[in-house]
Amino acid sequence: MTEAISLSGAAASRGGSPVWSGVDLAIARGEFVAVLGPNGAGKSTFLDLVLGLLAPSAGAVSVLGQAPRAARPRIGYLPQRRSFDTSTRVRGVDVVRLGLDGARWGLPLPAALSPSARAAAAKVDEVIELVGASAYAERAIGTLSGGEQQRLLIAQALVRDPELLLLDEPLDSLDLPNQSAVAALVQRICRERGVTVVLVAHDVNPILGYLDRVVYFAGGRGVEGPPREVIRADVLSRLYGATIEVVETPSGRLIVVGTPDAGHCTEDHEQVMV
Ligand SMILES: Nc1ncnc2c1ncn2[C@@H]1O[C@H](COP(=O)(O)OP(=O)(O)OP(=O)(O)O)[C@@H](O)[C@H]1O
Ligand SMILES: [Mg+2]
Repeated sequence: MTEAISLSGAAASRGGSPVWSGVDLAIARGEFVAVLGPNGAGKSTFLDLVLGLLAPSAGAVSVLGQAPRAARPRIGYLPQRRSFDTSTRVRGVDVVRLGLDGARWGLPLPAALSPSARAAAAKVDEVIELVGASAYAERAIGTLSGGEQQRLLIAQALVRDPELLLLDEPLDSLDLPNQSAVAALVQRICRERGVTVVLVAHDVNPILGYLDRVVYFAGGRGVEGPPREVIRADVLSRLYGATIEVVETPSGRLIVVGTPDAGHCTEDHEQVMV
């Protein structure tokens, strides 16, 4: 079977500036993969390449055995930085439905009782149940908590039964219990439905127990492998071109120490795993 994502000698540039280069990776179907690295390292840029929104400046990218753009209908995508104003009156269920109808959403549905409308409504209900959002899906999305909104947005990305799910920082702004709950939910979708999941994260710890693989971008490079083979002092020191320490706490949390901010500045600081 073809890989879900494969990059060979790939490079990405934005606005004429290189972001990363020389990246080789192979993500198998059904894997749960985290994309890690400091701000500006090119994590979202990686998703743009996979979505075919940006062409590689060198090398080759293949997605589900196809050119990225051709594979687009088979991909579910949750973009970075989403928030709803508390005055937003659109219901959660409508936001999920948007993933099905795209541009047609918002129009009145005169054929609401047609077989295709019923099938669509059933599909929307199914994914809302899958993410555990049935209790609040009828409420205005702006009145829901960050964690509740996030579940509905994941449902939106799932409503077309994608083979590949790309989630750009879905745990952002969630408290720790909710980060764990959403990570467990995503892993369940990955395992039960065979969906390949690529999740961009800032802190690997809430998802560490669920992951098959990580891709780590820093210093204009990218490496991939099982989490504990990548989040290691020698691997990260090579990637950042600086001395990095990785400390594992007795509870199994990984703390990365000494990363230069954004890969370019010289002043070191301690930080919990980015
Ligand atoms: N549309 C654009 N035009 C020009 N430069 C861009 C554009 N989008 C991103 N960049 C630059 O490309 C680099 C990588 O950005 P990217 O958004 O991929 O980083 P990231 O790892 O996702 O960071 P963050 O953790 O902040 O989300 C950054 O230096 C950014 O300023
Ligand atoms: Mg980003």
